Amino acid sequence: MAKNEKLSRRFFLKTTGVLTLLAAIPASLKSAYKQVKDFIVIQKKTAPLTISVNKKAYTLDSDTRTTLLDLLRENLALTGTKKGCDHGQCGACTVHVDGERVLSCLTLSAMVSGKEVTTIEGIANDGQLHPMQEAFIVCDGFQCGYCTPGQIMSAIACIKEGHANSVTEIKEHMSGNLCRCGAYNGIVESIQKVATS
Ligand code: FES
Ligand code: FES
Repeated sequence: MAKNEKLSRRFFLKTTGVLTLLAAIPASLKSAYKQVKDFIVIQKKTAPLTISVNKKAYTLDSDTRTTLLDLLRENLALTGTKKGCDHGQCGACTVHVDGERVLSCLTLSAMVSGKEVTTIEGIANDGQLHPMQEAFIVCDGFQCGYCTPGQIMSAIACIKEGHANSVTEIKEHMSGNLCRCGAYNGIVESIQKVATS
């Protein structure tokens, strides 16, 4: 058999094989895509949600899969609470629910129905900064400020929980709040300042 003939037969076989494969893929992809889409549509459910944020009541229909963090930022435009990792590892999203600190990225909005949520926007009083906010300014407790809302909400809770009795204790109980700028000394100093005032 001539070389050219061999090549052309191989070329023909390869080409038809690829074409057959390509013809099959769209159908299977379409079917897979439809299945995923149907699954998402089936999973998507909204539920009425009554929630109080910074002493203001909200009633809305919320996707049951929405996290508290996304509800605050996307639905209520309260963007003071930051999204860092979105996986419960950085503390940037810390808010208070009924006075206790929680990671809002790991909290479904449906779980806080009927509860009182406090965010960084809600801790000042009549334009007067919260003592912890003042302390962060005085003690250089921040640099870029991205982690700061979460740090401040955690710091307030840390004192309330009775975990601000020493530098070691403060560090231990603030260890869930990361600061990429490394403002840790100022943060600890801020907490000590408020705790002892
Ligand atoms: S965004 Fe929630 S812990 Fe990082
Ligand atoms: S101040 Fe920049 S990440 Fe903490």
